[in-house]
Amino acid sequence: MAAHEIGSRVLDCHGGYGLLQILAAPIANHCALARWVVNKLAGHLDLEHSWSWRSMLGGVCKWVPVHKVGEHRAMVGCASRMLNQQTIQFGAKQGPPDMLVAADCVEVQREMKDESVDLVYIDPPFGTGKTQTAQGRSYPDGRNNPTAFVQWLAPCLVESHRLLCATGSLFVHLDYRSVHYVKVYLDSLFGRSRFINELIWCYSVGGKSKRRFARKHDTILWYGKSAEYAFYPEHVHVPRKPSSHMRVVMDENGEPVQEKTDRKTGKVYRYPVHRGKIPEDWWTDIELLNRSDKERVAWPTQKPSRLLERIVKGTTQPGNVVADWFSGSGTTAVVAQREGRRFVATDVETEAVVCARDRLVAQGTRLAAGGCPPPDLQCRVLQ
Ligand SMILES: C[S@@+](CC[C@H](N)C(=O)[O-])C[C@H]1O[C@@H](n2cnc3c(N)ncnc32)[C@H](O)[C@@H]1O
Repeated sequence: MAAHEIGSRVLDCHGGYGLLQILAAPIANHCALARWVVNKLAGHLDLEHSWSWRSMLGGVCKWVPVHKVGEHRAMVGCASRMLNQQTIQFGAKQGPPDMLVAADCVEVQREMKDESVDLVYIDPPFGTGKTQTAQGRSYPDGRNNPTAFVQWLAPCLVESHRLLCATGSLFVHLDYRSVHYVKVYLDSLFGRSRFINELIWCYSVGGKSKRRFARKHDTILWYGKSAEYAFYPEHVHVPRKPSSHMRVVMDENGEPVQEKTDRKTGKVYRYPVHRGKIPEDWWTDIELLNRSDKERVAWPTQKPSRLLERIVKGTTQPGNVVADWFSGSGTTAVVAQREGRRFVATDVETEAVVCARDRLVAQGTRLAAGGCPPPDLQCRVLQ
């Protein structure tokens, strides 16, 4: 069905909250969303919510007829109640629940106690001035103005600093547009001596301009709360590659080792190949998710779980608390749940939180079936 054909129809859906009458607002020029509305229609309350949420935010479906505004408000309330205070139990016997909250992140941060988090990873909007879209879902990516961007992000960074424990770390994922501005701000907030790494995540998927070298990396800034920040490099070793300045020889046990001799001192250095090595601060071994990747869910700018796995396993231990304030499709939370870390994840778009919840429920159910149930999952909407 074409987008224009579903404009202004009245649809009836039955759900746990009784009969809802939903007006299909005209959404010409947004074919992807239109198809999604039609395909997933029957009784799918998440869909109703995301759809109405967009209309409330003046987003994609913004032409709600004036005489129907009351119905839309009712829909928003209904869907929020669905998510609000929903606790999903996987069968773990004890421990506090993991948290997934639809809210502006700062509101949630302000509810939390000092030094209660071991790792914060954030992948905020990049300030492209565009709307990021994938499979009919979208979020505004912020104004293309780095000074305004830093001002907008600052309260979240201040709260992150307060929430980190003494051994905790902050990772801020950005691109060339604003990373320099944010680094200057973080140097003043954490202290220059607390800066640990500028990680360059390289990929090659996607379009390339003929007018410049392809812009194919993001930058992730890593700061420690103190000089005693936690780091577990042995958990994230990568394979040793053949190297021009090292020869491969067999050691006394017949195992291959890379070997080099210091020309000045004559000292011989040996590195067992099977142990791998600490990754450099440029990562070329994790590709961006392409459209057909099986990990892919319908949320724009989803990051690969291998990227988060390196950060989570390299800086936390099982039982530690991981926070992602801009969680989108929930990648950080999914990795934390899988790796036995606890988590708090927030996103201002309820649609993103629903997407993350679905991933976490699917994975949590699999983990429970395998005999390792994760903590309960508490979902909330802060209005
Ligand atoms: C780059 S995306 C995150 C993608 C995520 N890392 C993933 O793997 O799916 C940025 C997210 O920040 C969310 N966001 C924007 N402003 C926010 C705010 N004030 N509080 C919480 N989330 C916000 C957007 O809705 C969007 O989902």
